[in-house]
Amino acid sequence: MNKLIIEGGVPLAGDVRVSGAKNAVLPIMAAALLADSPVTVENVPHLHDVTTTMELLGGMGVSLMVGDKMSIEVDPGTIDAYRAPYELVKTMRASILVLGPLLARHGRAEVSLPGGCAIGTRPVDVHLQGLEAMGAEIEVREGYIHARCSRLKGRRIVMDVVTVTGTENLMMAAALAEGTSVLENAAREPEVVDLARFLRAMGAEIEGEGTDTIVIHGVPHLSGTRYRVLPDRIETGTFLTAAAMTGGRVKTLATDPELLESVLLKLEQAGARVNTGADWIELDMRDRRPKAIDLRTAPYPAFPTDMQAQFMALNCVAEGTAHIIETVFENRFMHVQELMRMGADIQLEGHTAMVRGVDHLTGAPVMATDLRASASLILAGLVARGETRVDRIYHIDRGYEGIEEKLARLGARIRRIPA
Ligand code: UD1
Repeated sequence: MNKLIIEGGVPLAGDVRVSGAKNAVLPIMAAALLADSPVTVENVPHLHDVTTTMELLGGMGVSLMVGDKMSIEVDPGTIDAYRAPYELVKTMRASILVLGPLLARHGRAEVSLPGGCAIGTRPVDVHLQGLEAMGAEIEVREGYIHARCSRLKGRRIVMDVVTVTGTENLMMAAALAEGTSVLENAAREPEVVDLARFLRAMGAEIEGEGTDTIVIHGVPHLSGTRYRVLPDRIETGTFLTAAAMTGGRVKTLATDPELLESVLLKLEQAGARVNTGADWIELDMRDRRPKAIDLRTAPYPAFPTDMQAQFMALNCVAEGTAHIIETVFENRFMHVQELMRMGADIQLEGHTAMVRGVDHLTGAPVMATDLRASASLILAGLVARGETRVDRIYHIDRGYEGIEEKLARLGARIRRIPA
């Protein structure tokens, strides 16, 4: 198993190009199943989760072609199986995103139940209740969701919790349903908005994306299109946080500052100077130590849970004490134990972590436990004295494109070694 070796202590400096958003490309590739003709998705990041999605679609008989300029053509016309097997779903929970499109377009689907994962139980009850309300017959047996329907019917659905992939599954299903659907308490994440735009480019009639009420007028057919995925706001935020922690100056390119206002505000509160343009963000923290910042994660537009672990790493070396409250997932503090092995001073009490900034962290062998936790360990390694070895980095490859190459270009002493 590969490891990352990091020698800390270099302030990051330079420009870094941000990749397409993981959490937008996955639902968009699943939504291609709804079309009658081939779809071309551009700005696709080179990530393990994208490979898994290709395996998932390919396993159903869908034809896929990787083109130049980071594009993938998905031809859903060759589909001959309607199943998402456990072997793939267990490695990528987002596989559940094929459920809505398969039902809406083909009237049947068998999708393995995702089960628990490192950051919590993460049920899919809201997805299933919504699809049942639209007329699907759903049975869970032998670990699989077995679903069938004739044409789905548009409905008003009030979702119990704000769920990103739940909103996306129902929006995709409603796009081909008969009549109008209204999704209340919908997620407002930019990736939900991107999916709505993609569906509209295929001919769907959708209004209200980006608010908590999305209205979808079902249409009988959707056709292929060409679509460019939006930039990854979490990757952007991760590089900016790395710059802030190391006392560096980094400009992120090909991104969009409007996607991460809550994160930029916190970085400014930590003492960083932030400048933005239409598609870039520059952060300057030269010669300064970050100040501790309290934060509370919540659905968009509040502070994202996917940036919590990285800000925990920042607070570990900040001046003062910070309280971090995680409200989205019940078990998303797996990085705490590993950060403490590097000398961090953190106390956990339920959903709150109290982080007292220390003068310095010390390099140590650490283990990545989930995607964003891995990012926080790399960030900690960048400021630690001595060598940090991050094990189980397959987690990081799920969601960050070439992270060690991008960091190395900013001056970081980081390399990947085979175990
Ligand atoms: C998505 C993102 C993930 C991010 C998360 C929260 C993708 C592929 N992944 O995950 O990176 O961390 O949003 O921003 O886009 N819940 C239920 N019942 C359901 C569905 C969810 O109780 O049917 C709960 C979950 O357990 C969790 C909360 O709702 O506590 C939010 O989860 P959700 O928004 O669904 O996360 P994902 O869509 O899986």
